[in-house]
Parts: sequence; C-alpha cells; structure tokens
Amino acid sequence: MKKNIIFYFSGTGNSLVVAREIATALGNTDLVSIPDSFGVDLFNYERIGFVYPIYFGGVPLIVKNFIESLDIPPSYLFAVATCGGSALNGLKEINALICAKGHSLNFGTILSMGGNYILLYGKSEKAEASNAQTTKELPDIASAIRDKSQRPCGKPNPIMTLFTNRFRKGVHKATRTYIVSDNCTSCGLCAKICPVHNIEMKDNKPIFGGKCEQCMACLQFCPQRAINGTKTAKRKRYHHPNITAQDLIRK
Ligand SMILES: Cc1cc2nc3c(=O)[nH]c(=O)nc-3n(C[C@H](O)[C@H](O)[C@H](O)COP(=O)(O)O)c2cc1C
Ligand code: SF4
Ligand code: SF4
Repeated sequence: MKKNIIFYFSGTGNSLVVAREIATALGNTDLVSIPDSFGVDLFNYERIGFVYPIYFGGVPLIVKNFIESLDIPPSYLFAVATCGGSALNGLKEINALICAKGHSLNFGTILSMGGNYILLYGKSEKAEASNAQTTKELPDIASAIRDKSQRPCGKPNPIMTLFTNRFRKGVHKATRTYIVSDNCTSCGLCAKICPVHNIEMKDNKPIFGGKCEQCMACLQFCPQRAINGTKTAKRKRYHHPNITAQDLIRK
C-alpha cells in the first residue's frame, strides 16, 4: 500500500494540530515540515497534502516557493488552509500554483482558528470557540480525504493577489521592527523555534537575520514576552493550546 504525505508550515500550532489530526486519521502518512522538505521526492505517495496558515489573504512566501519547487506526480492532492477568519485567496492561490504544474487540487478546505498576527492584534476571546469548532470538523475532513472526495477551489481574485504579493515582497523585512527587551533571559527558545532558522544567539541575545516569514512563533512563544513589534507589548499572546514549543522545534 502506498503512503500519504502531508507538508505543513506552522508558526503557532494551528496548522500543525490540523495536519497531525489528518495524518493520524488517515494512517500510513508521513508528516513533514515544509522548511525541511525542499528537494523531496514525491513519486511514491498516494495522497499529497499541504496544510498552512493564510497570510494577507494568500499563501505564505515559503509555501509558494515550496510548491513552485516541487516535481508533482499524478496523485490525489489536497490542501487545508487555516486562518483567523478572512480566507480570501488562501486556498485559490495554492490551486493556481498546482494548476501551473499541470495538475489541480482535488480537495481544499479552510478552517477558521485563533488569529496569531500579533503585529496587528492580540489573542481574540473567540479563539477557543473557533478551535473547538475546527476540532469538530476535522474527522469529516479526514474522511473526505481518505475517500478521495473532490472539492474544487476556484481561481484567485487578481486584485487580492496584488495585495498578497505586496506582503510577500516585504515579508523578510519585518524583523527590522522587532525589539528585544531587557526581560530576555537568554533561554534561546526563540532561536530554536524559528521555523526558518532566522534567529541566532549572539552574546546571549537573539539576533534576527533576513529570512523572516512573519510566522509570529518567536513573539508568541517567548516565555518573557521579550520580543515585540512596535505595538505588541500589551497584547495577549496566542498559540494553539494543544501544541507546545517542543512540538514546533525543528528536529
Ligand atoms: C503574517 C500573517 C498574516 C495573516 N493574514 C491573515 C489573513 O489574511 N486572514 C486571516 O484570516 N488570518 C490571517 N492571519 C492569521 C493566521 O492565518 C491564523 O492565525 C493561522 O491559523 C495561524 O496558523 P499557525 O498557528 O499554524 O501559524 C495571518 C497571520 C500572520 C502571521
Ligand atoms: S525566547 Fe525570549 S527570553 Fe528566550 S532568548 Fe528569546 S527573547 Fe530571550
Ligand atoms: S524570526 Fe520570528 S516571526 Fe520571523 S520566521 Fe522566525 S520565528 Fe517566525
């Protein structure tokens, strides 16, 4: 029996929890993080899935680059996008990327979960309710994927794509606004959790490089709330309650 594979990208655990649940329900499924998977050989998989957060109404830059780099064989292709409530092009963009490879997404769905973009807002009071709703929906989504159901995703809105492209163009510059306060205890967690290895500890302080994907893991998980953007200091932190920092750290 051929295996399945799910690629995920996740800063604060929503997409990881979803990817993990679907992988467990399917069985016989490799679960791998996108930053670790460039150059992967896909020719022995029956179902290939992508689980990721929606950024500025579209696909995160690293997810876009990853799909563009893949050699995709004929297989059942699915995507699950997580978001804070405004999905916009988030699923349609991945469909377009896959269509550009001569395939189309067989099944796609969007899940509203806790919003994590602390540069704009703190943890919402609705986060728990959204996550509980997702937990209810996941068994049916996994069954649909197991049965190779078809759910087409449509084409992206080109105006929206311009908006997302603008974000993607500047995404690596975000860390210019990040400040590390004296509350930092030099624990090194931020450097370990950054999914793209964009943080290095130098002289016991985190130093940011130029590869930030704006996943928010470092701001949300710092135990001292020592990493901040210009307006985040008083904002309530968020990460998925069933996902720990250890779950997200690249092995
Ligand atoms: C840079 C950035 C942009 C975001 N843009 C959107 C958006 O356009 N629409 C939306 O509903 N949520 C948006 N969000 C929220 C995330 O999509 C949502 O919280 C997601 O489930 C986080 O997944 P993760 O925990 O796996 O990282 C954004 C988050 C970030 C960090
Ligand atoms: S996680 Fe926070 S306390 Fe730990 S090194 Fe990073 S900034 Fe400092
Ligand atoms: S520097 Fe922080 S926000 Fe940027 S990718 Fe790394 S963990 Fe995510």
